[in-house]
Amino acid sequence: MVANTIKFLLNNELVKIENLDPNTTVLQYLREEQFKSGTKEGCASGDCGACTVVLAELDTENSGQLTYKSINSCITFVGNLHGKQLITVEDLKEGAQLHHAQQTIVDNHGSQCGFCTPGFVMSSFALHKQNNTPNRAEVLEALAGNLCRCTGYRSIIEAAMTSSKDAREDSFAKHYQATVAALTELEQLPTPALTGNGHNYIAPKNIDELATELTNEPKSTLVAGGTDLALSVTQNLATIDKLVYVGNVAELTTIEETETEIIIGSALPYSEFIDTLHHYYPDLGEMIERIGSKQVRNTGTLGGNVGNASPIGDMPPALIALGATMTLHVQGQERTILVEDYFVDYKKTVLKPSEFIKSIQIPKPTAGQTLKLYKISKRIDDDISAVLAAFFIEQEITENGQKITNVRLAFGGMAAIPKRSPVTEAILLGNSLTKALVAQAKEALTTDFQPMSDVRASDKYRMTVAQNLIEKCYIELQSANARKVIETRVVNHA
Ligand SMILES: Cc1cc2nc3c(=O)[nH]c(=O)nc-3n(C[C@H](O)[C@H](O)[C@H](O)COP(=O)(O)OP(=O)(O)OC[C@H]3O[C@@H](n4cnc5c(N)ncnc54)[C@H](O)[C@@H]3O)c2cc1C
Ligand code: FES
Ligand code: FES
Repeated sequence: MVANTIKFLLNNELVKIENLDPNTTVLQYLREEQFKSGTKEGCASGDCGACTVVLAELDTENSGQLTYKSINSCITFVGNLHGKQLITVEDLKEGAQLHHAQQTIVDNHGSQCGFCTPGFVMSSFALHKQNNTPNRAEVLEALAGNLCRCTGYRSIIEAAMTSSKDAREDSFAKHYQATVAALTELEQLPTPALTGNGHNYIAPKNIDELATELTNEPKSTLVAGGTDLALSVTQNLATIDKLVYVGNVAELTTIEETETEIIIGSALPYSEFIDTLHHYYPDLGEMIERIGSKQVRNTGTLGGNVGNASPIGDMPPALIALGATMTLHVQGQERTILVEDYFVDYKKTVLKPSEFIKSIQIPKPTAGQTLKLYKISKRIDDDISAVLAAFFIEQEITENGQKITNVRLAFGGMAAIPKRSPVTEAILLGNSLTKALVAQAKEALTTDFQPMSDVRASDKYRMTVAQNLIEKCYIELQSANARKVIETRVVNHA
C-alpha cells in the first residue's frame, strides 16, 4: 500500500507534506514553506555547512534509542525526511534560555557576522547528543564541514569542546520517549510517496517493493543520500521526474560479517560502517574519514559512490584494489560481479535497466596482505581527490627476503573510470620489492595511464604524483618488511 504523503516530526510537531515537488530540498522547504529562515543557504552544494540541520532517527541497533545526525539540508530531498525528526536552530532554545550549543558560542565569542553560526551550532548540537565530553579531534571531525569566513575557528572549536555533561536537560531529552513513540508509529505507516508539479517520489520499504517499482518504471532515478544527485538539481537546475529513495529499504541498510567478508548494504551511510572497515583496514577507515564532511558521511552511501560512477569517487579504487564484489538485483534475480568489472566508460556501467546495487562484499584481510591508500587533494577535509591510489600487496616473507605473490594497484583520477594498472602490476608480481623494481614500475605506469588535465590537476601532475605514491608505498613497506624478515630468522633459528 502506498500513501501519497510524507510524514515527519518538525521539532515535536507532526508534519504532513502533500502536493509538493519532490525536487524540493529540505532547505527550500524550511525557508520557503515553513518560513524558518534560521537555517542559511551558503553554497547549496554541501560545501559550507551553513544549512546544517539535525535528524533524529530510530537507532536500528538499539531499540528504543535515537541517533542524532548533522546533515546538509541544501542537498537533501524533502521526501527523505519521512519517519524522522527534523531539528533546526530555531528549535534549540527554550523560552529565553539558550541551548548549551548556543550559549557556548556566546561565551567563547564564536560569532561575528553570524551567517555560519546556525550551522556550527547544529553540528555541535549533534556531536554533544552522542558525546558530551568530546576531545579536540572529535570536535574537528564534527565541524570540518562548516566554514566560517570572519570569526576564526579557535573560539568556535573551544565552544564545541566545552563539556555538556552538566548542562541543563534540553527539550529533546525531556521529549525523548514521546519522540521514540511517534517515530515508531511513523515507521508502521504504508510506503510513503510524494507527488507535486508533475514529479514523483516514492520510498519503498523492502527489496521486493523496490524491485517492482523499478521494473514498472525503469526510467526512475534512484536516490540514497542525495549528496551527488541533489547537486544536479541545485547546481545544474535539473528536475528529476521520478525519484525512488533506497534509504528505507531494510535489506539495503544492513552490515553483516561472515568469516571471510564484510557485506555492506548499498544504502547504508558511511558513518554506520566506517568503524568496521577501520578495524579491518585502518587505511580505509582513515580514507573514508576524508570523504566529504561529517554531514556528507551521515547521509552519503557506498551504493551512491559506486553508482555515480565518477572517475574521482574515492571508494571504487579502494574496492577494486581489495578485490571487492558487488551484488546487483533486478526483480528477484541477483548477480555478483567484481567491482572492477562494473565500470565500462566515463559514467557508463554494466547496470541494466531496472537493476540496482544491493550490496558490496569486501574480503577480510589475511596474513601477508597490505592495503595502502593515498588520497591527493588540496585540503585534508571535505575535498574531492585529484588522484586516489589504492595498493593491495600480498607478500611471502621468508628469512631470505620477500616476494610479491599478489598485487592490485587501482587508481582514481587517472582515467575516465577508476581502474587497475595491468602493466605495472605485471612488473611487480613474483618479484622482490627493490628500488630498481620500483623504478621500473613507475615507468610502466605511463603505459597504463594517460591522465587528463582539469581544474583539479594537470596530466603531468597526476602522473608524477601517482608514480611517487608507488615509491612512497615502497618506502613505507621497506621497514615493515625488514622487520618481518628478521622476525622470520629469529623464529627459524630459535
Ligand atoms: C561536499 C561534498 C563533498 C564530497 N566529497 C567526496 C569525497 O571526498 N569523495 C568522494 O568519493 N565523494 C565525495 N562526494 C560525493 C558523494 O558524497 C559520494 O559519492 C557519496 O557516496 C554519494 O552517495 P549518496 O548516497 O549521497 O548518492 P546519491 O547522490 O543518492 O546517488 C548518486 C548516484 O548513485 C545512484 N545510486 C544510488 N544508490 C544506488 C543503488 N543502490 N544502485 C544503483 N545506483 C544507485 C543514483 O541514482 C545517483 O546516480 C562529496 C559530495 C559533496 C556534496
Ligand atoms: S548551503 Fe552550503 S552546505 Fe548547504
Ligand atoms: S561569523 Fe561570519 S562567517 Fe562565521
